Amino acid sequence: MEDFHSTFVVCQHWLRMHQSVLFVVCSCFLLSKAQTVGASCPLVMTPSSVVVEYGDAFTVECNSTSDQREGMGWESDYGGTGLIEEDHVQLNIKKVDRWAIRSQCFTNLINGTQCSKHLPITVYKMPDSVMLHENTTQPLVEQQEYGFECAVANVAPVKKVVVTWFKDNMSIVKECLTIEESNEEPGNCTSVFTLSAQKTDNGGKLRCEAKFDFGPMGPNLQPSRSPGVDLQVLFQPFFEKSDVEMVEVPANGKLTLDCTAQGNPTPQYRWQVPQPTQKVESGPILDLKGPFPGTYNCTAANSQGSSIKQFVITDAPRDYTVLAAVIGVTAALGVLLLISGPFIVTKDGTFSLNKGGYSAGQACKPV
Ligand SMILES: *[C@@H]1O[C@H](CO)[C@@H](O)[C@H](O)[C@H]1NC(C)=O
Ligand SMILES: *[C@@H]1O[C@H](CO)[C@@H](O)[C@H](O)[C@H]1NC(C)=O
Ligand SMILES: *[C@@H]1O[C@H](CO)[C@@H](O)[C@H](O)[C@H]1NC(C)=O
Repeated sequence: MEDFHSTFVVCQHWLRMHQSVLFVVCSCFLLSKAQTVGASCPLVMTPSSVVVEYGDAFTVECNSTSDQREGMGWESDYGGTGLIEEDHVQLNIKKVDRWAIRSQCFTNLINGTQCSKHLPITVYKMPDSVMLHENTTQPLVEQQEYGFECAVANVAPVKKVVVTWFKDNMSIVKECLTIEESNEEPGNCTSVFTLSAQKTDNGGKLRCEAKFDFGPMGPNLQPSRSPGVDLQVLFQPFFEKSDVEMVEVPANGKLTLDCTAQGNPTPQYRWQVPQPTQKVESGPILDLKGPFPGTYNCTAANSQGSSIKQFVITDAPRDYTVLAAVIGVTAALGVLLLISGPFIVTKDGTFSLNKGGYSAGQACKPV
């Protein structure tokens, strides 16, 4: 008696200390037992698992593959069929109104053993809304980081939800996290996306999508999309082509310099030109007539900073055939002037070409 008592006390003490260990051991034992029973249990369910929308109906067929059978049946949270002497039995739920449904098909064998197979059932509900929240006010500033939150409301099962973020051609899949303890009932979850703002993001769109990941065997349901958020990113002006452009003066002596820069807000332009160039300025465009060689500088500036572009203007290399022609014409003209000079210039120095007798003296003196 004494012995038994002390053993009992020790055992009680051990139990208190190792309760959790014992529980784990026990559940492992049960699990492995259930698995071996399930594996050898001569039952086949079609389909072998169910994913059903809350409010919908579903049916599952359970077939016995053994003739050593006394009977079989279904047990579920919606009641049981009892023992039926058939080789198949159907579970028929007209309207799912529970978030968790336990269900199993069982069979009694002639040798007195009973075995069962559990039917995995997932009840889902599409989210009420998927919203994209900005944790900041736009516009964003280049190179800075911003958090965006995708909030998925009233969805079940929360732990099967994944969120995909879309920005232009990029997409990233993320977990949807919950604050509340996640169970089968509808709940909220959120995914956070950190954007390191780039100038290429300006004018782009960000959005998120929530969908269920039921695995390869599960249904592939349409994702729920959030409205898009237009991104505005402020950035320093920059030039798409090079910052230094080499330009040759064309034959006609007219030149247009284009200093257009990309920037947000729209850049303001300031030109620095070598003296004494005649310039006609209109924002990023500079029209030059008879430009002088030299370095022309253009500054594009906005609230985020400025960038300078240089146009190095050089004389075009001489085209000698043109030059020769010019010299030839000038020489010919000179000879012509020399020969015709005495005939067209009168003694008092006025031109006599005008047939109306017009003279310089008359034109200059008041009448
Ligand atoms: C009863 O029969 C089944 C299937 O034939 C077998 O797996 C199980 O081990 C048997 N049980 C007993 C107690 O004989
Ligand atoms: C879930 O989200 C909805 C919509 O954002 C909100 O109204 C509701 O309070 C949230 N529920 C919980 C439990 O946070
Ligand atoms: C443009 O900038 C270059 C380099 O800073 C400088 O040498 C040049 O004088 C500038 N041109 C004018 C017209 O100010």
